[in-house]
Amino acid sequence: MDYSIPKGTFDILPSLLDEEEKWKESSRWQYLEEVLRQTAHDYGFKEIRTPIFERTELFIRGVGESSDIVTKEMYTFLDRGERSMTLRPEGTASVMRSFVEKKLHTQPGLHKYFYIGPMFRYERPQAGRYRQHHQFGAEAIGIGSPEQDVELIDMVCEIYRRLGLKNVTVQINSVGDAASRANYKDALTKFLSPHLPALSPDSQVRFTKNILRILDSKDLGDQKILSEAPMLSDFLTPDAKKHFEQVLKLLDALNIRYAFNAKLVRGLDYYTKTVFEITTEVLGAQNSIGGGGRYDGLTETIEGPYLPSAGFATGMERVLQTMLKQEVPFPAAPHPRVFFVPMGEEALKVCFQQVCQLRHKKIGAEIDLSGKKMQHGLQLASQQGSEYVVVIGDEELKTGRIKLKNMATRESSDCPLDALVDRLLAFK
Ligand code: HAM
Repeated sequence: MDYSIPKGTFDILPSLLDEEEKWKESSRWQYLEEVLRQTAHDYGFKEIRTPIFERTELFIRGVGESSDIVTKEMYTFLDRGERSMTLRPEGTASVMRSFVEKKLHTQPGLHKYFYIGPMFRYERPQAGRYRQHHQFGAEAIGIGSPEQDVELIDMVCEIYRRLGLKNVTVQINSVGDAASRANYKDALTKFLSPHLPALSPDSQVRFTKNILRILDSKDLGDQKILSEAPMLSDFLTPDAKKHFEQVLKLLDALNIRYAFNAKLVRGLDYYTKTVFEITTEVLGAQNSIGGGGRYDGLTETIEGPYLPSAGFATGMERVLQTMLKQEVPFPAAPHPRVFFVPMGEEALKVCFQQVCQLRHKKIGAEIDLSGKKMQHGLQLASQQGSEYVVVIGDEELKTGRIKLKNMATRESSDCPLDALVDRLLAFK
């Protein structure tokens, strides 16, 4: 029997000794989530939680039949009612499914949603690439203006700024509207046809399935051929071109630095017009920490009304790994304010009472219940990062007075045991 953790997944734990694994510590995830939620609220996005699995056809139609995600990476299974279900590989399709199903566009107000949660892709695991990863995503539904795209790009940059990330690059491109892409696909097909035998096997498949994705190829031979290829940006319709120019102008006005990347098409089929990706230089091959764009046609694809929309998602593992590599400081993990070390059975009863009373007053308190020696309790107190430690033995029980020892200054103050709660409340 093999009971070990599945390949490509990991545990998030309170503390890990290996320096390189520190990004998996739960207090770091909590801190990241706090910053993400706060930023989302500051930008007017409200939380949405959708199921972790959906009907398979949602992703086939929504994410796109020719995308790598759908063709190679989905966790698909038949449930006990013989229905095909899939663990969500991304969040956008589910948000749009929920929006259309609940007819939220008929409700007044802004339609801006964020989500935090696990996503599942059957990829070859490697550093920064997992089979279960976590995303924070934001989707703004119903607005087609360039300001909407830029609000999202500004928001993702602000998240990284608040977290203290350094040297992030925004890469941006426009994949145009359907008409732009149809024109470009014709030109690219014409250009690539004579080179077909020289393309990598992956690109040869994409040639018929989704020719635009060839632009994304990392294969050096493909890249050489592509260096002479027509540019998507030259095929934008006047509307798509104007939209993109306005996006760039708005980014300039906000002093957001970006790199125009004519070959950026992204791996999901729903994008229209603006696409962007945020990278850092510290993560090696899996250097994309976030990505997104506009997807004006998605609601219609899943049989809803036309609702121009845009969004992004950022990979939480990669953000935490970047922070670790860049030595960005984290706030200390939560710790008990006071730690009790009882010496003997009678003391244990008294300490236990005290700990419970403190907790009822919302003061974090902890106790060594092991019955071991004082040294053990003191070590635990320091390992837990407690502010104060209180040792109670026969003497303290007899006099009813204790010593409250400050772990940082090493100073002790005398205090009647029954005044401890008030004393700690006063210190707050
Ligand atoms: P995506 O680029 O596929 O976009 O994923 C977003 C981010 O999730 C990536 O930039 C990366 O940081 C992280 N990520 C993706 N796959 C993995 C993996 N296997 N392991 C670790 N991290 C990973 C989307 O999913 C779109 N739904 C984004 C979006 C929202 N577009 C519009 N709205």
